[in-house]
Amino acid sequence: MQYRKLGNSDLSVSLVALGTWGLGGGSVWSDHDSTEAEAKNLLSACKEYGVNYIDTAPVYGTGESERLLGEALKGRRHDFVLQTKCSLNWRNEGGNFHYSRDGYTVNNDTRPEAIARDVEDSLRRLETDYLDSVIVHYVCKSFPVCDTVEALERLKEQGKIRAYGLSNSQPKDLADYQNAGGHVDTVQEFFSILSPFHGRDYFPECKKYGATFQTYGVLEEGFLTSPAFMERTFRKTDIRSRIPWVQPEYKTGLREAFEIWEPIREAHGCSFPQLFEAWALKQYPNMSLLVGMRKPANVADNAKCLDLVLTPDELAAMEEAAKPIQVEVLDK
Ligand SMILES: NC(=O)c1ccc[n+]([C@@H]2O[C@H](COP(=O)([O-])OP(=O)(O)OC[C@H]3O[C@@H](n4cnc5c(N)ncnc54)[C@H](OP(=O)(O)O)[C@@H]3O)[C@@H](O)[C@H]2O)c1
Repeated sequence: MQYRKLGNSDLSVSLVALGTWGLGGGSVWSDHDSTEAEAKNLLSACKEYGVNYIDTAPVYGTGESERLLGEALKGRRHDFVLQTKCSLNWRNEGGNFHYSRDGYTVNNDTRPEAIARDVEDSLRRLETDYLDSVIVHYVCKSFPVCDTVEALERLKEQGKIRAYGLSNSQPKDLADYQNAGGHVDTVQEFFSILSPFHGRDYFPECKKYGATFQTYGVLEEGFLTSPAFMERTFRKTDIRSRIPWVQPEYKTGLREAFEIWEPIREAHGCSFPQLFEAWALKQYPNMSLLVGMRKPANVADNAKCLDLVLTPDELAAMEEAAKPIQVEVLDK
């Protein structure tokens, strides 16, 4: 494993990070609800393969991802850099309506009192007294950025958080946070070979402020793990039934792209996840690969993406194959 500083912070994080949206289960990841034993085994695999950076959020499984991690982290909290999120909550205390799901109404609220409550709720569910990093889950234009920045900086002073970042945002948002006196260490945005444009627009701003760019969806929720994945069916509520790659017009293109990617994969004797992760790492120098994993075997597999060296011709051929089906925005 390799490690880098997270943005301008002192935190040393593994290039491959554990994403735990799926761990939370519920109707969006409807094929499996993880158990405490599975969460513990997952973190043991992370420890074994050097993955020290964990990402979660209050809304993943409406508290369940954080609760499972809290259990699994007992006795080894200091081995990991723990990141959760703020702004989306289901307390019904105001903010903007974001979505209704599984009997909960989730609002987006970036006012200082909401951010402070979010952090307290996460500390309780995660059974810890500090969070290494907190990401504003959905940057929101309704409330003054300077107030949100002040709240985040205060939490840092109090030792409750060590760093913070933004998600579902635009490059201008990063500049606004910095200009309001903020210190944004991470930007977490969707990025994959099938949807690279938003990230590429963002890289110059991240570079300017020294922020780490953290991918989400680098494997397109599983659709880039193998050609067979797109033949699976998912419940209507499942996130994977709602993204473009399940549509017949995209499926044909994705199958064709896999035919071009397959010989590259075979030449390196690697897995498809490793291939797309290695491609992503080459797109920006301070890249953090956040990958959703529920199985120890996937941790072992993804950790090896760092050993894979793709030639410039292979990188170009991979993207050329993706071009006919690349999308600007992934509305998940
Ligand atoms: N900020 C945001 O709004 C936002 C949005 C989406 C996601 N995220 C974060 O980003 C993380 C990653 O995104 P994601 O989980 O949606 O999608 P993803 O990382 O693109 O894909 C995850 C899927 O790939 C599978 N997978 C991973 N490694 C594999 C391997 N080596 N072999 C075979 N299959 C493999 C996983 O299977 P298993 O589940 O079976 O292990 C899971 O189904 C999330 O978990 C979450 O932490 C943030």
